[in-house]
Amino acid sequence: MCGIVGYIGERNAWPIVINGLKRLEYRGYDSSGIAIADTGTFNVYKKMGNVACLENFAKDKNKDGTAAIGHTRWATHGEPSDHNAHPHSSGDGRFYIIHNGIIENYLALKSELVRRGHIFKSDTDSEVLVHLIEEIQQIEQTDLLEATRLALNSVTGSFAIVLLDRLDPSQLIAARRGSPLLIGVGDREYFVASDCSPIAEHCNKVIYLRDNELALLKQEELIIKRLDNVIQPLQMHDLELKLEELEKGNFEHYMLKEIFEQPRIVKDCMRGRIDLKVGQISLEGLKNHTKQLKAAKRILIVGCGTSWHAGLIGEYLIEEYARVPVEVEYASEFRYRNPVIGEDDIVIAISQSGETADTIAAINLAKLNGATILSVCNVVGSSIPRLSDGVVYTHAGPEIGVASTKAFTAQVTVLTLMALFMAQNRGTITSSQLIELQTELSTITSKMQTVLDVNKAVKEIAKRISAFGNCLFLGRGIGFPVALEGALKLKEISYIHAEGYPAAEMKHGPIALIDANMPVIFIATKGPSYDKVISNIQEVKARKGNVIAIATEGDKILKEIADEVIEIPAVNECFLPLLAVIPLQLLSYYAAVMRGCNVDQPRNLAKSVTVE
Ligand code: F6R
Repeated sequence: MCGIVGYIGERNAWPIVINGLKRLEYRGYDSSGIAIADTGTFNVYKKMGNVACLENFAKDKNKDGTAAIGHTRWATHGEPSDHNAHPHSSGDGRFYIIHNGIIENYLALKSELVRRGHIFKSDTDSEVLVHLIEEIQQIEQTDLLEATRLALNSVTGSFAIVLLDRLDPSQLIAARRGSPLLIGVGDREYFVASDCSPIAEHCNKVIYLRDNELALLKQEELIIKRLDNVIQPLQMHDLELKLEELEKGNFEHYMLKEIFEQPRIVKDCMRGRIDLKVGQISLEGLKNHTKQLKAAKRILIVGCGTSWHAGLIGEYLIEEYARVPVEVEYASEFRYRNPVIGEDDIVIAISQSGETADTIAAINLAKLNGATILSVCNVVGSSIPRLSDGVVYTHAGPEIGVASTKAFTAQVTVLTLMALFMAQNRGTITSSQLIELQTELSTITSKMQTVLDVNKAVKEIAKRISAFGNCLFLGRGIGFPVALEGALKLKEISYIHAEGYPAAEMKHGPIALIDANMPVIFIATKGPSYDKVISNIQEVKARKGNVIAIATEGDKILKEIADEVIEIPAVNECFLPLLAVIPLQLLSYYAAVMRGCNVDQPRNLAKSVTVE
């Protein structure tokens, strides 16, 4: 939800900032803008559309400058347009701001400012902030850092901001609360960004700003203080992101690259955590919580979207192996209920980005009630791991495609390991069972590779699906969350309306939709509910529905009754999601490409939803 890049140093800032914005486009791509300054020159370019539109717009214009701030926007307040694009300026045109987040009391602040004569040029909440800073700076006759600090103390909501001063471009001011922001530290130069991807090629040290901190960045100086004016020590971390992780390589889209990366990612995710010789699972991030996990009477899982689907799979696995009751809830619902939660509860928060606003709010609520917070997260150093008592990282590398693929399979892998880890600690599994399961788990990546090889067949089926306007995904047991995930993938990138249901629920409503124009995708692999799913398929066929079955290799029955069959290798039911989701990801991908959709940046979506 909006991407931020800033630079101050000796280099030409334009290429650093514009290329950085391209890397952040997954966070928003409806408009973008850059303010760039040098001694004696100051230029601001803003354009509706993606970063390429801005680049094109500024092609023949003056882009000199060694200080710049840039923003790629995902609209919240005010439609996407040139005038709503950031940076926004103060009334006197001196200060420029880029902002990610939402200023919740902006209407009240704006009406006060309007009453005092301020004139606004955009419909955004962000512009209010820079007017407020300007006013405070003029009244208090203070420097920009102090004016920003005072202003931020009077706003509610979330923000990551960077400010540039037309009259003094030798400094940038940055601050955050609730939205991510980090500072890259180079040699006599600093970078500011929403995540590491824009700065990975320029520096190898990073400081993660914490909530309610603001920073002054000058070539020769870096000061970080809290909003209560207390100076903070500089906590530097190594930046370990590799550049090739951010490139598409030979793939046409990031999403396809990320789908094909999955066997390797799942292997990386298990590395060092499974020990087949000893038959033990070790999860470093949970080692201080074994007592709580052993005693837990209940586990709550919270997340959003795809991460919530991974949570449903986690519920199945934890109940199956560790025999603890699990409840899975949308973080957005959990935070606004009055949930019964106490000190004995363990909350597992799942998030790829580690920045999802609803998940963060759910964690804070659970913390207030004394629960232990464990998280499953992909982005190291992001907010959710920092709020958690323990974290198990998914190590999936940066996920650039907006639709989550490899992060999902990595989350499922981690949750599988967590379920087995808990089972081992609680004694609900024998060591021979544990060794057997771990042995099978360690072969899953070669099976995933086999599933990726059905790519060609899936392409043909996708061609047919791409012509329909609707699609149903049905599964039972652990296949149900897989069906939900398949439906989410298809709708978000191809804009084909899709629903996921437990197959048995079909009779309670969705069956009314079935006719020759309704493709129905079944997760119909061999397992405890196979016969029941076959009956559901017969019901669809009897109504002329079009059945596509994800089936276990060699299944002759399905070859007879389904219109299309996609085979996957036989696997223990518990590991089914890791295989069955892959053809669904590929189906969505190819259907979206055939419909001419922007696969990596679907309309209206942002990768990281840092506002409610
Ligand atoms: C779907 C998708 C979203 C995210 C959701 C949560 O493909 O990517 O549904 O899963 O916005 O995001 P994280 O996992 O970053 O908390």
